[in-house]
Amino acid sequence: MIDRSRLAALLTRERATFAEKHPRSAAAYASARHLFGRVPMTWMNKNAAGFPLYLDRASGARVTDVDGHEYVDLSLGDTGAMAGHSPAPVVAAVQRRLAELGGASAMLPTEEAEQVGSELARRFGLPVWSFALSATDANRWAIRLLRAVTGRQRILVNSYCYHGSVDESLIVVGEDGGSYSRDGNVGAPYEVTWTSRVAEYNDLAALEAELAHGDVAAVLMEPALTNIGIVTPEPGYLAGVRELTRRYGSYLINDETHTFSAGPGGATRAWGLAPDVVTIGKAIGGGIPVGAYGLSDELAAALLDRPELDLVDMGGVGGTLAGNALSIAATRATLGEVLTDAAFVEMIDTATAFADGVRGIIAGRGLPWSVAQVGARVEYAFVDPGPRTGGEANAAGDPDLADFLHVYLANRGVLLTPFHNMALMCPRTTAEDVARHHEAFGSALEELSPR
Ligand SMILES: Cc1ncc(COP(=O)(O)O)c(C=O)c1O
Repeated sequence: MIDRSRLAALLTRERATFAEKHPRSAAAYASARHLFGRVPMTWMNKNAAGFPLYLDRASGARVTDVDGHEYVDLSLGDTGAMAGHSPAPVVAAVQRRLAELGGASAMLPTEEAEQVGSELARRFGLPVWSFALSATDANRWAIRLLRAVTGRQRILVNSYCYHGSVDESLIVVGEDGGSYSRDGNVGAPYEVTWTSRVAEYNDLAALEAELAHGDVAAVLMEPALTNIGIVTPEPGYLAGVRELTRRYGSYLINDETHTFSAGPGGATRAWGLAPDVVTIGKAIGGGIPVGAYGLSDELAAALLDRPELDLVDMGGVGGTLAGNALSIAATRATLGEVLTDAAFVEMIDTATAFADGVRGIIAGRGLPWSVAQVGARVEYAFVDPGPRTGGEANAAGDPDLADFLHVYLANRGVLLTPFHNMALMCPRTTAEDVARHHEAFGSALEELSPR
């Protein structure tokens, strides 16, 4: 459907426009000498234009780069800013803790921590919570605890999942159906197939075959895959996962870091799920680093019943700064005043309007693409019907096409998440923001696929 030489020419043109419009970002990148790969983290080299935009300021659903261009930000820090950039209640809470009260990191609990635990319990249905500084670390800790309590060695994940740089998760199903280390599993401490099992999402038969080995401590999964595009559950799949994990004595961890977009209690509450553990990070801190994991009463009791695990000393060291007063203050404000139940209703309405509009534009051009939505999160995929497994989603990737859309939109004031075609709505994303995306997206498709 896509003329590849036209696509290549358009991509070259858009990259040239981008370079012309962003001399200050280009210069900052060119002159960076003391950053590994020229950027604070090497993944910031994942950009469609050849160099990253440098941030000047951000507020709500808008960011402004150092060249003075303002953008509708649909990336929202790949969910870290789902509450919008610098929401006023979070700014006030952080200001109060850091500037007025002091003690951002004092190794002492604050009374607010129980309020945060209680609110997370209300939302996700798991009664007790512990904190980390990132979702990656929340997953790492959940995994360790579940290995300890079960005495089982392996973790099972879905192919092409993402749970942060968790060693056990970097495994995929190969073309021959076998299990393999994933590309990019750099410096793995051991062969991942020793510690992990893998099954395609939406494939209960494959899941059962792996669980039947009887060595899986826990299934770690996103209720919908969101990091290889969005892959949503087929009817009965998630109930089947729960039934199989119970039958084979494996715990179930729902990683809600991204599927939190489904509603105030993530997909767990929105879809009536009953995991043993929920892990989360990013958005709940309103921009301040935090991670958290919630445990069922049964699991918490089983762990606390085991003094030899030494969870208070060596076994309890989940990070000196974990649960620090600043993160906790920001999380209380985010959950209590920004990402409220009411806010989600509006965010999801905005996302539905976004998804409907994109579907209409795609249909109008007769392209075989599809749109998936998980609450406030929307993603377009270059395949129709949408992928039903991570493997299918990976195969449907088209890096040049994605780069073209990213640069084209950026040149017209709209940012998608750098890693795929994801658009996320925050409480301050407006109908005008959605319209701005649709106008640019429509003209991109018109240029790409003229009638
Ligand atoms: C589902 C999921 N879990 C965990 C993580 C890791 O989050 P962090 O990089 O904040 O540790 C991510 C990051 O994208 C994620 O999407």
